[in-house]
Amino acid sequence: MQSGFSGKAMTYEEARGALAEIGQDQVFAFWDKLNASEREALLAQVSRIAWSDVAMLRRVLADEAAAKSTAANAAAGASAEDMEPAPVLELSGDGRAAAAAAGENELRGGRVAALVVAGGQGSRLGFDGPKGCYPVGPVSNAPLFAFHARKLLALRNAFGAPVPFYVMTSETNDRATREFFRENAYFGLPERDVFFFVQGMWPALTPEGKVLLDAPGHIFTAPDGHGGTLSALERSGALADMEKRGIRTVFYFQVDNPMVDVCDPAFIGEHVRRGADVSIKVCAKRDAQEGLGVPVSENGRIRIVEYTEFTDEQKNERAPDGRLRFLYGSVAIHAFSTAFLRREAGAGLPVHVAHKKVPHVDESGALVKPSSPNACKFEKFIFDSLLDAKTAICVAFDREEEFSPVKNAEGSDSPATCRADLSRKWARWLRAADVKIEMDAAGYPTRRVEIDPAYARDAESLARALAGNPGAVPAEGDIWLKA
Ligand code: UD1
Repeated sequence: MQSGFSGKAMTYEEARGALAEIGQDQVFAFWDKLNASEREALLAQVSRIAWSDVAMLRRVLADEAAAKSTAANAAAGASAEDMEPAPVLELSGDGRAAAAAAGENELRGGRVAALVVAGGQGSRLGFDGPKGCYPVGPVSNAPLFAFHARKLLALRNAFGAPVPFYVMTSETNDRATREFFRENAYFGLPERDVFFFVQGMWPALTPEGKVLLDAPGHIFTAPDGHGGTLSALERSGALADMEKRGIRTVFYFQVDNPMVDVCDPAFIGEHVRRGADVSIKVCAKRDAQEGLGVPVSENGRIRIVEYTEFTDEQKNERAPDGRLRFLYGSVAIHAFSTAFLRREAGAGLPVHVAHKKVPHVDESGALVKPSSPNACKFEKFIFDSLLDAKTAICVAFDREEEFSPVKNAEGSDSPATCRADLSRKWARWLRAADVKIEMDAAGYPTRRVEIDPAYARDAESLARALAGNPGAVPAEGDIWLKA
């Protein structure tokens, strides 16, 4: 019956018949009240939805046994004794220099790409628009996307080869994201090196396995999780584009962290030298409760257990030296070999189920915002692909240099903490270049500081740039160094 949905336009009769067969024709409850364009849009949405996936999601929901076999539930059931903290590499001295040299070689050869996942909805931030458009520049108000793109421009300038940028969007923000890049002239990157691709969307299901309407002519859907990256890369032609360009390593990161050291040569180099399928950057958690996924080792394999799936006892457990036993967290910065991405493109990742409050229309067509969870949303997580990796490594990094995400409107991981952390990092770079910057008692600069990544991409390149232009830093007021 699934053959009824081919992704091609269907007539109302065809669509209604096909949905009736799978018990989902409540989708057409308001058909008589819809105008011509609303009808057209609903039919288009029905033909876009992968109903074979919906059948699979219904099985996940209905079959307790199947749900228990997902990685999510297996992890929740695992006891502390089953899991060991994953081994973590600390790169320093000659080892770091050799790794950086190998990574620089990959960059020079044009064998490295960057991939940002930007399909999520940023609802916690309360921002109406693609999260990547959120302004974070401490002086310039430049958006998150600008920092990522300008780093790629800096790498291109430093190593003389393009680093193509793959931007994963979702149905809800794809158009706005593309327009934003166009309006901003791709932040200086050649347009041909920026590739947008759209992740899949899944409906939510009620406990009875029904999809919900969030408007009389619209089915509620949400992005299928960053695990959707793997199939979307193939479906969109992005993976084929990488292969055509000779990309060997893909640097993967989240849109919400402007501190990320995009395509960090030492990380790329270590990944390549060890022949890893997947490499994971990890940092020491701020405290036991910090919401980071934790890399664990089980029977010699590394996987990431999401913070929500750890018990409090596991989170607080101490090693003999007094430090947290599960000290390191993953901040979703990974390197993937292109060959592994190709192998994984068709792999079915486990489905994670979350009980959520999903807005829907009542019998009269009026929108209801439920006060308690009424439906399940489904997501795939990219790190579940680790289970298929032959070689995976964890590499430690210094969070003060590389991690300060914008997640919440206020408090920790907010725009305010992120801007302060950016200013502090750039002030450290300036001080390392012998520029006098006053710091307050908490270690933050007393002036706002911003450095365009295309002006300097690290402390060393900043020192070089300033040596050639000693008057670049004003004696007082904001500091904003731009290319
Ligand atoms: C995430 C990670 C967590 C990590 C933390 C670090 C998950 C489940 N958790 O938590 O392990 O330690 O970040 O900051 O990933 N996204 C998509 N499409 C989707 C869903 C998400 O592109 O369908 C993107 C978002 O745009 C964002 C990123 O993935 O860039 C993270 O999503 P978010 O929901 O904010 O994850 P966190 O709960 O913050």
